[in-house]
Amino acid sequence: MCGISAIASHKPVASLLLKSLQNLEYRGYDSCGMAIFDDKEIMLRKNIGNVNEVNSIERFEEMQGQLGIAHTRWATHGGVTPENSHPHFSSDQKFVIVHNGIFSNFQAVKAGLEAKGHQFRSQTDSEVCANLIQDEYSICQDVETAFCNALMKLDGSYAVAMLTSYQPNTIFAVKKDSPLVLGVNDGVNFVSSDMNAFISETRDAVLINDLEYVLVNNDNFQVKKLLDRETITKQIIHVQWDKETAQKGGFSHYMLKEIFDQPQTARQTLHIPAEEIDTIARKFVDKPQSFCVGVGTTYYVAMIGTYLFSKFADLYVPSISADEFPTLVPVNANQHVLFFSQSGETYDTRMAIRAATTAGAATSGVVNVVGSSISQEVDDCIFQGSGPEICVVSTKAALSQILILWQIALRVGVLRKRLTEEQAEAHRQQLFEFSRLIEKVINEESGFIRDLAKNTSHVRNWLFMGRGIYYPIAMESALKMKEVTYLHAEGLPAGFLKHGTLAMVDENMYSLFFLPNRQDTDLFHTTLMAIEEVKARRGKVIAFCTQDDEEVQNMLDHYFVIPDTDPELTPLVEMVMAQLFSYYSALNLGLNIDKPRNLAKSVTVG
Ligand code: AGP
Ligand code: GLU
Repeated sequence: MCGISAIASHKPVASLLLKSLQNLEYRGYDSCGMAIFDDKEIMLRKNIGNVNEVNSIERFEEMQGQLGIAHTRWATHGGVTPENSHPHFSSDQKFVIVHNGIFSNFQAVKAGLEAKGHQFRSQTDSEVCANLIQDEYSICQDVETAFCNALMKLDGSYAVAMLTSYQPNTIFAVKKDSPLVLGVNDGVNFVSSDMNAFISETRDAVLINDLEYVLVNNDNFQVKKLLDRETITKQIIHVQWDKETAQKGGFSHYMLKEIFDQPQTARQTLHIPAEEIDTIARKFVDKPQSFCVGVGTTYYVAMIGTYLFSKFADLYVPSISADEFPTLVPVNANQHVLFFSQSGETYDTRMAIRAATTAGAATSGVVNVVGSSISQEVDDCIFQGSGPEICVVSTKAALSQILILWQIALRVGVLRKRLTEEQAEAHRQQLFEFSRLIEKVINEESGFIRDLAKNTSHVRNWLFMGRGIYYPIAMESALKMKEVTYLHAEGLPAGFLKHGTLAMVDENMYSLFFLPNRQDTDLFHTTLMAIEEVKARRGKVIAFCTQDDEEVQNMLDHYFVIPDTDPELTPLVEMVMAQLFSYYSALNLGLNIDKPRNLAKSVTVG
C-alpha cells in the first residue's frame, strides 16, 4: 500500500502535489517522488525518506508545469533506494507511471521486455508497467490503446497513474484491487489513492471501480471500462469529512479503519508472486525440521500456521514464541525457521533469528516493513504489502500473514504430494471468496457487534475458547481484547477448561466460544460439550453460530451470527468479528484505542 496522486490544473501543480503527498504519507513513507510535464518534457525528481526529507533535497516546489503525478512508497518489491522510488520512466522516457499494488506476473513480463531490449533501472515490479506501455505504443501509436493493452497484460493488484509526452494534457489512471478516487473542482482535477489527498481543495469526488480507467485533464474527466473501453457515466458525490477523519478513511480510529482495510489487504496477499511462496515452501521440504516463530500476535499467527501445515501438508511444524526460542530450541543446520513480524524490528524475534542463524539454520520471514532489520536478517523474505498499520494493535497485518501462510502451506502440500496442483488452487481460490465474505460480514454485522459489546460492557473477566485451529484464534482474540480494553481475557483450548479453569466459572464469568462451522462435525461437538460444561455452572456463554442454528442459540446468552460458509474460512471470519468486538468494547470504555497504555507499536527492547 502506498499513496498515488495526480493533478491536472490550469495553474502550476507542484505545491498542490506536494501537499497531497503530505496528506497521503500515512499510507507509506519510505520514499517519494514527483513527475511533472513542463511544456517540453517530463521532469522527474525522487528520493528516499519521508515527504519533508525528500522535499528538502529535491525541492519539488521548484518544478514547473500544470500536469503531474506523485507517489509516496511502501515498498513491496525492491529495497528502499532512490532507483526503486516512484515515479518510473519507460526506457525512452516518454511515459512515466506511479503504481500502488503488486504486479504478480512482473518477472515474466520483465523477461519478455528485456529480450526486446528494454532497460530497467529498478528492482520494482512497477517499472514493467512503464516499459510495457512503451512497447504497446510502438505497435499501435495510440496512447489510450497502448495504456489499455499494457494493463490487460498485467496481473495482480494495481492503481496506476500515467503521464506521457505524446499526450501531455491528459492523466491516465486505472485500478484493480487497489484504491483510486477522482476529485473534481473548477479548473483542477485530482486522481489519488484516497480523498485525503485533495480534501482540503475539493469535497466533490467520483468513485472508480475495479477495471475502470480514467482520462483526466484540467477541466474534464472521462471514465471507461478497461475491457471494452466503453464510457461509463459517473455520479459526483459530495463528502463531508474533516481532514483528520479523512486521514482515517472516514473512521473514528485507525483500528477500525484497519479492520475495514482487510478485504483489500487480504486480496493483496493473493498477488504475491508464486515464486516467492515457492522459495519458502521448498525449505519446508528440503529441511528435515521447520518451525514457525513470532511473538505476541505473530506468535498466534505462527500457531495458526502449525494447524495449516498439518491440514494441507500433513507436516508437523511446531510454533514457538520468539522470546522462548533461544532457550527452548536446540537449533542446528538441518532446520528451517519461518519468522513473522509486522514491524520487522521486534527485539525478541531478532534474537531468535540470531540464534537460528548462528546455528546455521535456514531462515525466512513474512514481514510488512521493507528495509526493516528482520527483512534483512533472514535469508528469504516475503513482504506482505499490507501498508502501514498505525494502530498499536495488529489486525490487518496479522490476517495478511495468515493468508500468506495459508498459501505457503498449500504449496508445501503440493511439494509433499499431499495435494494435487488443482486441489491446492481450489483452496487458494477460496481466499478470493474469503475477502468478499469478510467485506460483507464487516459491513453487515458491525452494528450488531457494537450492540453486543454495549450489552456486555459490565463484564470484567472473559474466557475465550476454541478447539483445533479455533484455539489460536481464541488466543489471538483474547490478546486483542486485553490490549484495547485492559480487561482480563484469558484464551485457552476449550478441551483444557475442565482440567482446571472451570473452577473459576460461576454466574459472573463470561465465556466467548469460537464455535466451529457445523460441517466440522467433531470439532463442533467437542466445543459444544465445553459450552455445556460452562452452562452447567451457570456461567454466561457467547458463541459464534449461523442464523438458523436455533439449537445452539437456545443454549447461549448472546451470539454472533456467522455466515454459513466453507468450514475452512469460518475461523478467519470469526477472528475478524472478534477484532470488531474488542474494538467496540474498548469504545464503550472510552479508552485510547489506537495507543493503548503501556504498549508500543514496535517493541525493540528485550
Ligand atoms: C499485537 O496486537 C501486538 N501489538 C503485539 O503483540 C505484536 O504483535 C508483537 O509485539 C510483535 O510485533 P511485530 O509483528 O511487529 O514483530
Ligand atoms: N510494488 C510497488 C513497489 O514496491 C508498489 C508498492 C505499494 O503499493 O505499496 O514499489
